[in-house]
Amino acid sequence: MCGIVGYLGHRDAYPILIKGLKRLEYRGYDSAGVALINDNGDMNIYKAKGKVVDLENVCSDKNISGCVGIAHTRWATHGEPSAINAHPHYSESKNLAIIHNGIIENYAQIKKNLISKGVHFVSETDTEVLVQLIEYIQVHKKLDLLTSVQVALRQVIGAYAIALLDKRNPNQIIAARKASPLVIGIGDNEFFLGSDASPIIEYTDKVVYLDDENIAVMRLGEDLQVTNIDNVKLNPDVQTVDIDLGQIEKGGFPHFMLKEIFEQPECLRNCMRGRISKKGVVLSAITDHREQLANAKRFIIVACGTSWHAGLIGKQLLETFCRIPVEVEYASEFRYRNPVVGPDDVVIAISQSGETADTLAAIKLAKEKGAFIYGICNAIGSSIARATDTGTYIHVGPEIGVASTKAFTGQVTVLLLLSLALAKERQTISCEEYNKVVKYLLKVPEAMKEVLKVNKRVADLSRIFTYAHNFLYLGRGYSYPVALEGALKLKEISYIHAEGYPAAEMKHGPIALIDSDMPVVVIATHNEMYEKILSNIQEIKARKGKVIAIVTKDDEVISKIADEVIELPDTLECLEPLLATIPLQLLAYHVAVCKGKNVDQPRNLAKSVTVE
Ligand code: F6R
Repeated sequence: MCGIVGYLGHRDAYPILIKGLKRLEYRGYDSAGVALINDNGDMNIYKAKGKVVDLENVCSDKNISGCVGIAHTRWATHGEPSAINAHPHYSESKNLAIIHNGIIENYAQIKKNLISKGVHFVSETDTEVLVQLIEYIQVHKKLDLLTSVQVALRQVIGAYAIALLDKRNPNQIIAARKASPLVIGIGDNEFFLGSDASPIIEYTDKVVYLDDENIAVMRLGEDLQVTNIDNVKLNPDVQTVDIDLGQIEKGGFPHFMLKEIFEQPECLRNCMRGRISKKGVVLSAITDHREQLANAKRFIIVACGTSWHAGLIGKQLLETFCRIPVEVEYASEFRYRNPVVGPDDVVIAISQSGETADTLAAIKLAKEKGAFIYGICNAIGSSIARATDTGTYIHVGPEIGVASTKAFTGQVTVLLLLSLALAKERQTISCEEYNKVVKYLLKVPEAMKEVLKVNKRVADLSRIFTYAHNFLYLGRGYSYPVALEGALKLKEISYIHAEGYPAAEMKHGPIALIDSDMPVVVIATHNEMYEKILSNIQEIKARKGKVIAIVTKDDEVISKIADEVIELPDTLECLEPLLATIPLQLLAYHVAVCKGKNVDQPRNLAKSVTVE
């Protein structure tokens, strides 16, 4: 979703801004633009529909000088993707330029009001309304820019992260946020701005994450100033980020998605590092909040998309090991249906980006109803990480590919660690079982490496199935959410329609779809459900469906019936999702590559869904 970059300092701003926009490309966008103030005091805005390279083409014969600038990648919400609707937007006098992430919900009312007072608009966006409002207040109330921004933001309903240039005051950028992330990088007499830290970390590791309704004023030669919208001065909390540049580059892989699939063994090690000792699983969240977590009467997991699938696995883990009832809710549904939640409940919010608007809103609602909130996030310092009472980071490093891969296995791992630690506190697990799960969990990174060896085989078989218009994915127990996740990955990046089902449900409907054109991916590992899954496979074969079976190594039965077989190392049933997911990620990846699709930035999707 939209990306923000800004620079104020002594270097040429344009290359920093363009590089920053490229680092944010993973968020998904449809147009891009840049505003620069040059040494003559002119403010130039250049915009293009399409990719950042299209913007570079537009700029190739333009004046791109200047040591201050803001730049943006837009993901259309109000008005079609076009150069006119792309950001930055001028105010009517062209003194101000703004970039904005988020949605101004009452923009129509404000626009009507401004039009009635003679203000002219050139775009269809809610963003232009905001810059015109700021200028109107500045001119008519004769206020300085900071105060005008504060007054304007008090009138605004919705979400925003904004950055504002004023050509009459070229040594300054004003930025503000509410419910949309914004990070300020502090260098040596220079400032950087980003919607996340990725455009900044190349230059400085000192950052300030703005809080909701905070406004930052960056001025050359001065310290960063932060106020809230009521002009109360605040002390910026300068933090040191620990992200290595290599983590956000492709490292020799053709796509981020493949790199991230292959990173999973290392990611899992990082996720478990320092959390498993001789004494067992130690999570600081549980040490610090034992009372609330171990005595919870119920867990409610809220999440979206892939994170919701991880939540379904979390439900089985928590119920199995801790004997606490767990509900799993789409955050988008939960937030709008007045759910029955109270102080005895613990709400677990799962989000890779930590910025998903629906999940944030679900947290807010659950908090209002008195629930204790535990977050599972990847992005450090993200809005969700800060909105929760406690939580555990998955520590899998920045995920750039839009389709989530390593975050999913990281989330499942944290849910497993949480289940084990709570089960021990609640004495609902035997010592023997606990030690066995921990022992096998520690072996998962090596087992994942083994699974990744199927990459070539999956690449070959993917070519056979590019013809398909539909795919079915089946699994039972822990493998049912894995089936859902496999189907989601395929549809997201290859645009092939795919559905995931609990295998036993097949005969209640989906079996009607099966014919010789229908590929069916079945997770048929050697566990308690094996015989039942075997029957499902026979039912599919009887109807000439094409079976791609994910089986446990040395399975001699299914390998004779299925059309294609992918083997996994043997492990405990509760750990199978961590392994079985990998061939499904690879299948989706290779089918999409064979079909020539944009794997890292699939159409219509955004990495971080910060609007409803
Ligand atoms: C799927 C995918 C999405 C996200 C969903 C939630 O590959 O990436 O379904 O899982 O938008 O995002 P987070 O986890 O950032 O809250």
